[in-house]
Amino acid sequence: MNRIVVLISGRGSNLGALLDAGLPVVAVFSNRPNVAGLELAQSHGVPTRVIDHRAFDGREAFDGVLADAIDAYTPDLVVLAGFLRVLTGAFVQRFAGRLLNIHPSLLPAFPGLNTHRRALEAGVKIHGCTVHFVTEALDHGPIVAQAAVPVLSGDTESLLAARVLAEEHRILPAAVRWFLEGRLRIEQDAVHLTPPPPLETSPLLNPMPA
Ligand code: GAR
Repeated sequence: MNRIVVLISGRGSNLGALLDAGLPVVAVFSNRPNVAGLELAQSHGVPTRVIDHRAFDGREAFDGVLADAIDAYTPDLVVLAGFLRVLTGAFVQRFAGRLLNIHPSLLPAFPGLNTHRRALEAGVKIHGCTVHFVTEALDHGPIVAQAAVPVLSGDTESLLAARVLAEEHRILPAAVRWFLEGRLRIEQDAVHLTPPPPLETSPLLNPMPA
């Protein structure tokens, strides 16, 4: 039986997508108290714990306690699902190769925060989301899956965010399932899925040529 620990900081809609997909989430940790994602986990009977980063003197202390708490659940995989803390190198090394993150942009474009606003400001026509293995370089690990959405004229940050979020909820459970099935292989910086999925033949173009 596989075991997944999920880290959140807020709403928990990506956590919800994992739970709805029937994936084996054994514990949820949040660095913030009273967030919606904690209630969601509890309503699915999943144990939760708040480890509030503000109670710690520095990142090392927080990450050390968090890592020990995670290890108590002996997870095969740790998923950052809207976990809005930068993790130390020691933490990342401890879970290397079994730590996935969902990020709301098509990496390597727009690492960091406010990705939807920055995409609108940059005038890109295609935006999206990425699931990647976490490495010490922020938002730069080997990419497992990406989904693209069009940026439409008249888009606001929240309209675009909602369009991207719907895709996050598709690619995160898929990537987690592939990991648990042992189908992901990292070579250099590229992740290969075996056996490969059926070839999609139509490229996504936006705007479409007339
Ligand atoms: C998601 O859009 C996720 O991609 C993003 O936070 C949101 C959390 O929503 N993560 C990051 O920005 C990490 N750098 P959720 O709590 O409803 O899943």
